[in-house]
Amino acid sequence: MALIAPSILTADWLDLRGALRSAQGADLLHLDVMDGHFVPNLTFGPPLVAAICREAQRPVECHLMVERPQDLLARYAEAGAGRLIVHAEATAHLHRLVAELRGLGVEAGVALNPGSPLALVEEVAGEIDLLLLMTVDPGFGGQAFLTGQLAKIREAKRRFPHLLIEVDGGVHLENARTVAEAGADILVTGSSVFAKDADPAQRIKQLQQATR
Ligand code: DX5
Ligand code: ZN
Repeated sequence: MALIAPSILTADWLDLRGALRSAQGADLLHLDVMDGHFVPNLTFGPPLVAAICREAQRPVECHLMVERPQDLLARYAEAGAGRLIVHAEATAHLHRLVAELRGLGVEAGVALNPGSPLALVEEVAGEIDLLLLMTVDPGFGGQAFLTGQLAKIREAKRRFPHLLIEVDGGVHLENARTVAEAGADILVTGSSVFAKDADPAQRIKQLQQATR
C-alpha cells in the first residue's frame, strides 16, 4: 500500500484554492520549493507555503530543491510544513542539517537525485524518517519516469527497512502499482493529478486504488 502525495507544481496557480480543495482526498501534499540555483526553476517562498498550510487541511511536506537549505529550514518549518526534505547533494554537512531539522521539530527527509548513490545517506539513515528517491532530474513536472531507478527503490527498501521510501517524478496511473510494489511507501505525483483533462479528486482516488 502506498500513500499519494500530489505535487501542486503543475496545478493551476491562478486557482490554488481550487487545486487544494480538489486534493483534499490525498494522503498529504508535496510542495516543490525551488530556488533557481539548485534546479533551473523558481517556485514557492515561505509566505505562499504558509498560506497553503493554512488552507490545505492535509499534512504538508516541502521538497527543498535549494542550494543553501540551512538558510531556509526554520522559515519553512515556521510556515507550517510538517516534513522538510533536503537534498543530500545540496550540502557538505548532511549530518548537521538533519540535526537542525530535528531541532525544528519537523519530520526529516533526505532526497537523492537519480545520479546519486544510496551510499550518500548511509551515515544518516538512522537519524531520518524518510528517503525521497527522484525518478526524474529535478526542476520540472511532466517528465518521463526513469525506469532504471526501480532497482534503486528496491535496494533502498532492502537496506533501510525502517525508512519511509518516497518516489518522486514521472509517477502516473500506469506505473503507480509497479513503483509501489518496488517498495515505495509514498508516491508523489503532479502532472498525472493536475493534468488538463483530469479530475484531480478522481485521479487521486484512482491512484490510491491502484496502490492499495
Ligand atoms: C520535480 C519535482 C516533482 C514533480 C512531480 O523536480 O520534485 O515533485 O513536481 O511532478 P510529475 O509527477 O509531473 O513528475
Ligand atoms: Zn518533488
